[in-house]
Amino acid sequence: MKVKAAVISEINQAYRFETLNLAELKDDEVRVKIVATGICHSDDALRLGHAGFPFPAVLGHEGSGIVEKVGSAVKHVQAGDHVVLAYAYCHHCEHCSEGIPAACQDWLELNWGSVHSDGSPFFTRDDGSVVNNFFHQSSFASHTNVKESNVIKVSKDLDLRLLGPLSCGLMTGVGTVINGLKARPGSSIAIFGTGAVGLAAMMAAKISGCSTIIAVDIHDARLELAKELGATHIINSKNSDAAELIREITQQKGVNYSVDTTGVTVVMKTALDVLAIRGVTAPIAVTNQELTINTLTDLALSSKNMIGVLMGSSVPQLSIPKMLEFFKAGQFPFDKLIKMYDFDDINQASADSLSGKTIKPVLIVDKDYRV
Ligand SMILES: NC(=O)c1ccc[n+]([C@@H]2O[C@H](COP(=O)([O-])OP(=O)(O)OC[C@H]3O[C@@H](n4cnc5c(N)ncnc54)[C@H](O)[C@@H]3O)[C@@H](O)[C@H]2O)c1
Ligand SMILES: [Zn+2]
Ligand SMILES: [Zn+2]
Repeated sequence: MKVKAAVISEINQAYRFETLNLAELKDDEVRVKIVATGICHSDDALRLGHAGFPFPAVLGHEGSGIVEKVGSAVKHVQAGDHVVLAYAYCHHCEHCSEGIPAACQDWLELNWGSVHSDGSPFFTRDDGSVVNNFFHQSSFASHTNVKESNVIKVSKDLDLRLLGPLSCGLMTGVGTVINGLKARPGSSIAIFGTGAVGLAAMMAAKISGCSTIIAVDIHDARLELAKELGATHIINSKNSDAAELIREITQQKGVNYSVDTTGVTVVMKTALDVLAIRGVTAPIAVTNQELTINTLTDLALSSKNMIGVLMGSSVPQLSIPKMLEFFKAGQFPFDKLIKMYDFDDINQASADSLSGKTIKPVLIVDKDYRV
């Protein structure tokens, strides 16, 4: 079938709309008519060449929509279901079996593989050339084929336009604190970068009962929102020394946990330096910047820990319903982060995300959708 897609042809180029051919649905796939999709900072990181992804490609991995058709082997969803789309996983490797599908042994092949595992493409141009897929999802398109593992069924009375960002940015922030750091009640945490991922991490820290929650950013407007959403302290590190202030706030002990969402070398180092003895830091940005540490003085002498957390180590089919429960209870007001844009304005939405003007842009792909 023909689909409308926002295509990136080369690194650092703008999105351009094209009509592409979407492949026939495979037996284990689900065809989804996209209603809306978030733009994640990772989409921009790829577009800007920070993650070595091959172009041309259709990006987008925070989609929500309505199932149009399912393959013969699909068991748990059917046409008409309302769904949120997250990452793909295999279901049967040792890590999936142990309940950590974000560590699936096929994760890279399934989500960054660009084409199907059998080598066949998802999208082609009329001249036969291949346009790559991202996350087995490519939600910057009117329709897409995903795996059953990408799909999370949601209730039809929810506004699908709001739900896409739950599946990457928000799930990553929440899961990093709950599954990755396993933050304890009464503990202290510093969150560097208060974009969608950082603010979700912060709300999860509050839900987890952290008693000192320090938000650090360089945008006052984002920090004000952080305060509204539960930060006990905010620091604008553009005009102050965050490390010194964090030590003051914690009576020179440092924090039990920190999360870096900036990917900036000096900030990732500060996030490690401000840890208390036995503290844990999770640097989770998609970044091309590197960090040099001395394992003795930076880690071992204070029994500190640095962990890698992908997708918040979350099982999307469990995490998204939980986030929706927190939302209904007023503990996770993620709608305050969202600004909606018409799909045609994707370049403006991306620019507003990069400039800091918009925290979480959501593109409305299906203008006729009504709750
Ligand atoms: N590990 C994962 O599984 C995973 C999943 C999703 C997103 N990510 C990554 O997480 C990161 C955050 O995503 P996001 O959507 O919240 O992005 P974002 O750009 O909205 O947020 C980053 C924040 O960092 C702030 N910042 C930048 N430089 C800073 C500095 N020097 N000091 C203090 N603050 C600074 C920015 O002002 C911004 O508010 C991105 O790199 C994204 O690609 C990782
Ligand atoms: Zn993402
Ligand atoms: Zn697996």
